[in-house]
Amino acid sequence: MLLLGLAVLGLIASSPCTAAPVQDSLSTGSTRNKLLLISFDGFRWDYDRDVETPNLDKMAWDGVKALYATPAFLTITSPSHFTMLTGRYIENHGVIHNMWFNTTTQEKKQYYMTQFLSNYYLPTSKMSPVMWAKINFIQVEPHFYDHSNESEWRVNIDKVIDEWFHQQDLDFVSLYFGEPDLIGHTYGPDSPERKEMVRQVDRTVGYIRDKIQDHGLTDRLNVIMTADHGMTTVLRSGQVEEIILSKIPGFSFKDIQFQLLDYGPLGMLLPKEGMLEKVYQALKGSHPHLHVYKKEDMPERLHYSKHPRLLPIILIADPGYIVNGFFPVHFNKGEHGFDNEAMDMKAFFRAVGPDFQSDLMVGPFDLVDLYPLMCHLLGIKPEIHDGHLNKSKDMLVPQQPQEETMVVTPLQISFFVIVAITPLPHVSTFTAESCTVSGTREYQGKLQITICLSIYSLICRVNTTLMSRELGLESDITSSNEAPGQRVRGLTSWKIGQRLTGEKLRA
Ligand SMILES: *[C@@H]1O[C@H](CO)[C@@H](O)[C@H](O)[C@H]1NC(C)=O
Ligand SMILES: *[C@@H]1O[C@H](CO)[C@@H](O)[C@H](O)[C@H]1NC(C)=O
Ligand SMILES: *[C@@H]1O[C@H](CO)[C@@H](O)[C@H](O)[C@H]1NC(C)=O
Ligand SMILES: *[C@@H]1O[C@H](CO)[C@@H](O)[C@H](O)[C@H]1NC(C)=O
Repeated sequence: MLLLGLAVLGLIASSPCTAAPVQDSLSTGSTRNKLLLISFDGFRWDYDRDVETPNLDKMAWDGVKALYATPAFLTITSPSHFTMLTGRYIENHGVIHNMWFNTTTQEKKQYYMTQFLSNYYLPTSKMSPVMWAKINFIQVEPHFYDHSNESEWRVNIDKVIDEWFHQQDLDFVSLYFGEPDLIGHTYGPDSPERKEMVRQVDRTVGYIRDKIQDHGLTDRLNVIMTADHGMTTVLRSGQVEEIILSKIPGFSFKDIQFQLLDYGPLGMLLPKEGMLEKVYQALKGSHPHLHVYKKEDMPERLHYSKHPRLLPIILIADPGYIVNGFFPVHFNKGEHGFDNEAMDMKAFFRAVGPDFQSDLMVGPFDLVDLYPLMCHLLGIKPEIHDGHLNKSKDMLVPQQPQEETMVVTPLQISFFVIVAITPLPHVSTFTAESCTVSGTREYQGKLQITICLSIYSLICRVNTTLMSRELGLESDITSSNEAPGQRVRGLTSWKIGQRLTGEKLRA
């Protein structure tokens, strides 16, 4: 439940292009289309199945629909958005939770409180490059932002389409909506309120596409819509035995130096000196729906064990269960954060625009693969990441052979903006001292970015060698490309690659 409204990520290069030859001879193909990335927080993959969604359906007919998108674990807002924008698993990008914390001072801060502070993460040799950055917010949401106000949504959309794409000719904008996450938490994913919100999302999709059409952008703008995670119904006492650590025999909070609990299905503990084994043994096997891991024993497939900020003991509850500390303090009817193999954690995915096929249903899509796809669409050479373009290639209209090389036309950095964005719990400001774009241009001086990450990953994370060396990351980064894997069984009768027209879109 991350409240992030509209933040403008303005990327202003104060002295763009000071050094390095500009490789403009090859920019014959300044045919790069624009890109709009939209995240509807918590829009589960199947939310369009029990509600009429004419605009989402039309978008699928005009473009591509993936069966679902699998977020990285931990399936919560900030970590997942950072994965979308870096193509890295959470253990590799380092934004491990929505909550910032310091185990020494016991401080915990929700993302909003970290927004204007730039000193949260100091660089260490193993940290993701974002950490050495300093970010300046230009515009962020007000503290009590109404995330469900449809008029407000339209104001933001007008700004993006009219002002940023049309008047200012920006290349890339990302847009965030805080729903249907909030309503899913409050009323549960099966509630009439959630269905009504899906109708609102659908109207909004129609509004966005009409705006794009009105501004003559249809043939120049690719639109990708997805979500950071899904939502599942919370099981309460009476129905089930809840997980409450204080009630577990042999477990004592006296043995714990720092805890991150009461935040959905994930808990993390830092036991006091010498107490790790005792705490681990007490918790292990204590509840049939609680999985207890020493950090280093976390299942490999979750990619949530290697980062130094992860605490030594990690607790993961089965879908429907919450890891409570002393007693239950949250009464959400819906929750997320569970294993990303749980179908309820999967997100929806749609794409439409000049570079996408039309009328195509594709198989499951991993959110780590979004970054290479976006880089490809924008003609940017991607930084090191954990995703793969292979899996999304079929969505795209086949390219001219010479464009396959992905020669990067010099980017106009000041033309990149991101809106509303990814909640930035851990990083507040980013000033890159210098960053090389595809080896063709060097930006020295200050890049001032509001909400850094997208910009950072798409623009600055370009010279791998340089970045890795500076950050001592060389040995730390390995790209792990999982096989795509058909993890759905019995869910759908759609065939991958099947044309959608005339087919019923919902089961
Ligand atoms: C936590 O706070 C302590 C004390 O202020 C400080 O020395 C330490 O660097 C902080 N750790 C992090 C990761 O910020
Ligand atoms: C919704 O947003 C619009 C436009 O910003 C504003 O005029 C209106 O008062 C808001 N409505 C509510 C119920 O807050
Ligand atoms: C992706 O494509 C490359 C060749 O272009 C191939 O070597 C690699 O195995 C493919 N990876 C996957 C996951 O399909
Ligand atoms: C990246 O940076 C390194 C170190 O400065 C440099 O040697 C290399 O040529 C750069 N790569 C590109 C593609 O510009």
